[in-house]
Amino acid sequence: MAFQIPRGTQDILPGEAEKWQYIEQMARDICRRYNYKEIRTPIFEHTELFLRGVGDTTDIVQKEMYTFEDRGGRSITLRPEGTASVVRSFVENKMYGDPNQPIKLYYVGPMFRYERPQAGRFRQFVQFGVEALGSNDPAIDAEVIALAMEIYQALGLKKLKLVINSLGDKESRIAHREALVNHFKGRIHEFCEDCQTRLEKNPLRILDCKKDRDHELMATAPSIIDYLNDESRHYFDKVQMYLTKLGVEFEVDPRLVRGLDYYNHTAFEIMSNAEGFGAITTLCGGGRYNGLVQEIGGPETPGIGFALSIERLLAALEAEGITLPVAQGIDCYVVALGEKAKDESVVIVDKLRKAGIAAEKDYQDRKVKAQFKAADRLQAKYVAIIGDEELEKNVINVKDMATGEQVEVSLDSFTEYLREKLV
Ligand code: HAM
Repeated sequence: MAFQIPRGTQDILPGEAEKWQYIEQMARDICRRYNYKEIRTPIFEHTELFLRGVGDTTDIVQKEMYTFEDRGGRSITLRPEGTASVVRSFVENKMYGDPNQPIKLYYVGPMFRYERPQAGRFRQFVQFGVEALGSNDPAIDAEVIALAMEIYQALGLKKLKLVINSLGDKESRIAHREALVNHFKGRIHEFCEDCQTRLEKNPLRILDCKKDRDHELMATAPSIIDYLNDESRHYFDKVQMYLTKLGVEFEVDPRLVRGLDYYNHTAFEIMSNAEGFGAITTLCGGGRYNGLVQEIGGPETPGIGFALSIERLLAALEAEGITLPVAQGIDCYVVALGEKAKDESVVIVDKLRKAGIAAEKDYQDRKVKAQFKAADRLQAKYVAIIGDEELEKNVINVKDMATGEQVEVSLDSFTEYLREKLV
């Protein structure tokens, strides 16, 4: 029986993987300029972390986690997102004691959610995310949002829509929660079973329900914006003021609630509005999570961040017809004719490689013509030809594949010659 890849996962093959490297490098460079430092946390954590961190009324925790018992009887979960792990590490490593506040971190790596796979929705996907911990300044909210936008724009995307909302502070959310309960309770029996439990536990989650999204009560549900207290409203105004100053265009969407429990104040999503983009248009999501550090056992510390998946970013690039400038070809292919030349070619490519030149030779015992074809397929910029005769004269013939020009170069200066040509 032939094996098949598990549903909702994918192999990133050569040719495609270069695009991932390019995107990741671009995002890393942008993070360096914004002074965000990389953090690497484990791919699995104690299940309890996500129950607390992500919230036990969310779909992620209730339906989508890859949870198993390890051989020591501990409940372990493959991380469904990165924020809970980063906060765990922040607390465990006492980063709150560092004089350099806020702590600005980024991460890139696979996340796991047992969702129904479809275009843009995978069971293993790669998130690039940032988290800024320790600042309550609305300017950092604007910075985080601007950073996310810059990643997309640096890659050439234009058809983007940024939506923001405020979920307010605790007081505002309690008032909104009460209004939601009053709004839904009379007709909650018309909603799915999940929503019926959500009414008591976390009525905000009803607004995020995939099954009941078309129920008429959804459109008329009380909006959080109307329940923001003065402080929350003032905070939200400042975030918008900074975004405007930074030239970041946005829309306010009072219906934006996000699928995780830890958010308060600023919440945002970036969507693609490219024509022909699939049904799932959200490319990036994030927001402020001021209670999370405490929830995970640390001192009261504010935080804000976002995550985007590379899979959806690639889909957006495709929808806008953008090709990334990824170099595929090699610098030099060494063609050898004759036994002695073949032996020597092993040393020649080794020297090239050690000098920083991408070089290849034949390992399939191909005839000369077939070696040239192989060089072509690898898009070699130069082909160097050596036969036993050249070897005796200590020279090599170098052909520039762009111009067709061919020159004889001494073997001793060949590496240097090519290095100069390639700059
Ligand atoms: P999230 O909205 O659950 O937030 O996910 C963020 C992004 O991850 C989504 O906008 C989407 O691009 C991508 N994503 C989510 N699920 C999938 C999937 N099944 N397949 C492909 N891509 C997916 C979070 O994860 C939060 N931790 C974000 C955050 C960081 N908030 C504050 N800091």
